[in-house]
Amino acid sequence: MADSYSKPDYSGLIRVAAAARQHSYSPYSHFRVGAALLCGDGKIYTGCNIENRAYGPTNCAERTAIFKAVSEGERDFTAIAIVGGESETVWCYPCGVCRQVMAEFCEPGSFQIICGKSEEEYKVFTLEELLPEDEEENSMGLDEGKYRDGDIVRVLCIVTGKKTRILKRRGYMAFITLEDTS
Ligand code: THU
Repeated sequence: MADSYSKPDYSGLIRVAAAARQHSYSPYSHFRVGAALLCGDGKIYTGCNIENRAYGPTNCAERTAIFKAVSEGERDFTAIAIVGGESETVWCYPCGVCRQVMAEFCEPGSFQIICGKSEEEYKVFTLEELLPEDEEENSMGLDEGKYRDGDIVRVLCIVTGKKTRILKRRGYMAFITLEDTS
């Protein structure tokens, strides 16, 4: 009799992530990572880590895949598979920055993060499990409902002393104009 409960088979998505890992540019850490991002419409965007001799500009495999997808107009994401390691693959979990980028676009309770050591051996998390207590309202005092587009506030203007008008806000980011009040 067939199992009445089985976790989704992500071996195919892991295989795609492992293939993307072949493109990893990691001459500094030698830690090669590949990612495969599954969209709601079934499309898959891949990414690898791309390092830089100045270290800071390094981009993780997950963000490469997400940025590729967003730049192609995708916003609906279902799951991401991640495969990483030096020569052998090991358990590889997304860094804090990548978790935050996922939180910008993905539903925390349903987006699946698949950490694959191999096609057979993998762990599945929701974004909520890897980034708990992430609320947009926790953002730099720009709480939902308090300020609206067009409001004039005094935050962020310590340097100029000018008033600030919020043009658009998204999470903790606000696009502003400065207004001369003198
Ligand atoms: N890295 C990723 O690309 N994804 C992860 O989930 C973990 C870390 C990269 C960043 C850096 O190029 C190298 O792996 C070592 O940290």
